[in-house]
Amino acid sequence: GTEFHVGVIPGDGTGPEVVAEGIKVLNAAASRYGFGLKYTTYDLGGERYKRTGETLPDSVIRELKQHKAIFLGAIGHPEVAPGILEKGILLRARFELDQYINLRPVKLYEGVDTPLKNKGPEEIDFVVVRENTEGLYAGAGGVLKRGTADEVAIQESINTRKGVERCIRFAFDITRKRNKGKKLTLCGKTNVLTFAFDLWERTFYEVAKDYPDIATDYAHVDATCMWMVKNPEWFDVIVTDNMFGDIITDLGAMIQGGMGVAAGGNINPEGVSMFEPIGGSAPKYTGRNVINPLAAIMAGAMMLDFLGQEEAAQCIETSVQKAIRNDLTSMDAGKMGMGTKEVGDLISRYVLEK
Ligand code: IPM
Ligand code: MN
Repeated sequence: GTEFHVGVIPGDGTGPEVVAEGIKVLNAAASRYGFGLKYTTYDLGGERYKRTGETLPDSVIRELKQHKAIFLGAIGHPEVAPGILEKGILLRARFELDQYINLRPVKLYEGVDTPLKNKGPEEIDFVVVRENTEGLYAGAGGVLKRGTADEVAIQESINTRKGVERCIRFAFDITRKRNKGKKLTLCGKTNVLTFAFDLWERTFYEVAKDYPDIATDYAHVDATCMWMVKNPEWFDVIVTDNMFGDIITDLGAMIQGGMGVAAGGNINPEGVSMFEPIGGSAPKYTGRNVINPLAAIMAGAMMLDFLGQEEAAQCIETSVQKAIRNDLTSMDAGKMGMGTKEVGDLISRYVLEK
C-alpha cells in the first residue's frame, strides 16, 4: 500500500505528550485502512534553542520539504523570550514552506460545553480560512528613535494581489465542498484599513464571479466577533487576513469548547502542509498526563484528509465524537475523567472497532 513520510515536531511543554497520542491514533487508522506512515522526528523547540542557539536551521527546512506532511505539537518555552521560537520556528516554517492557508474549523461536537447560551452543534459549525504568509506577520516595518520620547514604531501589513487571490480562491473552493449554506464571508476592516481591504474586497468580488453557486457576504472584524457570539449559525466559511484570522480563531476555539479540542492546518495545497493543535505548549501541565490530546488527534485527522485518506480521517472524527459522548467528562486539562494517554488509547480502540 501507500506509505506517507511525515515529519514530526513534538516541540515544547505538553507538545510531545499530545503528539504521542496523535501518532497512536494515526497508526491505528493506518492499520485499519491499509496505508503506511513513516515518521521522522525533529527536536525543534525551546530546549534545542537553549542548548545550541538554533531555532529552525536551513538543513531541517530542506529535510522537511521532503515529507508529505508535518505533524506539530506546540512551540513556546517559559525560559525563552517571547517571539524567538514563535518567529524562528513556527512562522519560519509557515513562510519557508509557503503554507499560505491556515485552515481552522470551528465545530462544536455533541456533548462539549460552549459558553454560548442556547447554541449547540447545529449552530456552531463553520471554518475560518486565515491567510498565513502575509499581512502584519510579514515583519515589515521599523522603529525610529527607539527609547526616546519621540519613538515611532511602524508595523506594516503586506497584502499582495497574488497572495490575497490564492487565499480567496482556496476559501471559495472549500466552501463549495462543504454541505452547509454555501456561503463565504469576507472578514475585514474596509472602513479603516482602506488600502489593504480595498485590495481584499475587489479581489473577493472578482473571484466570486467564478463561483456563482456560492453566496458572498462581508463583515468587519469587530462585527465578526460579535456575530460569532450572537449568531454563529450565520457562518459557513470565513476568509480573512493573517492577524484577524489569528484573533477570531481564538474566539472560535472558545465557542467550540476550548483549546483542548481546536485543531488547524497550515496548508500549501501544492506542497508540504503542517497540522497542529492550536493551543499552546501549556508548560505548567508538562509531564502530568492531564492535557487533552483531542486537538492533536483531530489535527492528525485533518492531516489524513489532506493526504487523501478521507475515510480514515472521518473514522478518527467519529471516534472522537463517540469518546466525547460516552467517556469524557470535560474537555479541560485534568478534568477529562481520564489521562492524556488513556484518551489516546480509547480513541485508538474506537478507530480499530468495526
Ligand atoms: C497561532 C499562534 C501563532 C500565531 C503565534 C504562536 C506566533 O498564536 O498559531 O495562532 O500568531 O500565528
Ligand atoms: Mn493564535
